[in-house]
Amino acid sequence: MVGMQNDIVDVVANRPLTGGHFLLDLQAPRQAQATRPGQFAMVRLLDHSDVLLRRPMSIFDVKPLTAEGQAAANGAPLEIIQLLYKVVGRGTRLMSLLKPGDQVELLAPLGHGFFEEEYLPVAQAADEVLHVAGGIGIAALLLPARQIARAGIRQRLFFGGRTADDLVGTEDFETYVGEMVLATENGSKGHQGFVTAPLEKYLAGRPNGKFLLMACGPWAMLRATVDLAARYNQPCLVSMENRMGCGLGVCLGCSIRVEGTGHAAYERVCTEGPVFRAERVNWERGEIPKT
Ligand SMILES: Cc1cc2nc3c(=O)[nH]c(=O)nc-3n(C[C@H](O)[C@H](O)[C@H](O)COP(=O)(O)OP(=O)(O)OC[C@H]3O[C@@H](n4cnc5c(N)ncnc54)[C@H](O)[C@@H]3O)c2cc1C
Ligand code: FES
Repeated sequence: MVGMQNDIVDVVANRPLTGGHFLLDLQAPRQAQATRPGQFAMVRLLDHSDVLLRRPMSIFDVKPLTAEGQAAANGAPLEIIQLLYKVVGRGTRLMSLLKPGDQVELLAPLGHGFFEEEYLPVAQAADEVLHVAGGIGIAALLLPARQIARAGIRQRLFFGGRTADDLVGTEDFETYVGEMVLATENGSKGHQGFVTAPLEKYLAGRPNGKFLLMACGPWAMLRATVDLAARYNQPCLVSMENRMGCGLGVCLGCSIRVEGTGHAAYERVCTEGPVFRAERVNWERGEIPKT
């Protein structure tokens, strides 16, 4: 947890998007500067004793405080942590009410993320990196996509949701990925059905292709993606989104089953993850506990 800080930070903006999604900008320079692609934050709302637990959120983006700073050739210091979230329950509904000037407690950056030393050499050896996102899982993939683009590696985004309203944040990927393949279950945008169908077609059409798959989304989508990666013999990294209590490796509430025996058969998503090599996760027995 190098660089992890716990601060009370200011809300700069909290913009509604489609489908109950929001983009929350927090002024958090210490956390922004320490963030690596794929890490996450724990957000605690102040003055709400009934939602005491912190809520885990992927760090969607880190940026300078102003657009001018972002546009400057040498860049301004990173000060903003941006979270892309969907309202699903009481905690995220209260988050959606935050306004500029409000404050939250932010513990970040957490987890290992997509280790540069682990994935960049594999990505560099690949013809293309294939990001696979389901719903709000998209939030874990923008920072890796930017880093991969800086390394000059080709990449493509496969992004699926229930409806077109779930396909948020795509404009942020436009400068980094060569092509975006969208899918919705109701057919309101892109391919109709699960995003793994166009992914499979893509892999099947390139039997000699060398890819690195990087996936984040619901368990069923991750599992289908991992099955495809195995079937087409391609490496795959998954970012897991388990329920969490402490986010610090103490409560064990986020543990998943991995290959191994005894204590070695469990790892904590918050500290050993959230990014795992797909083949290490026990997909048969490793159901995400619904606590
Ligand atoms: C590492 C990590 C990164 C995450 N990143 C994001 C993100 O970038 N954006 C985002 O919107 N969400 C993200 N999540 C999920 C987010 O933490 C939950 O949606 C949030 O905690 C729900 O809080 P709540 O009080 O609104 O809902 P609750 O009232 O606690 O729950 C409402 C419903 O959501 C379900 N739920 C709650 N937490 C999770 C979870 N972790 N996974 C699946 N279902 C859940 C519950 O089972 C219940 O059905 C992430 C989770 C993890 C572990
Ligand atoms: S959330 Fe407590 S150990 Fe991971």
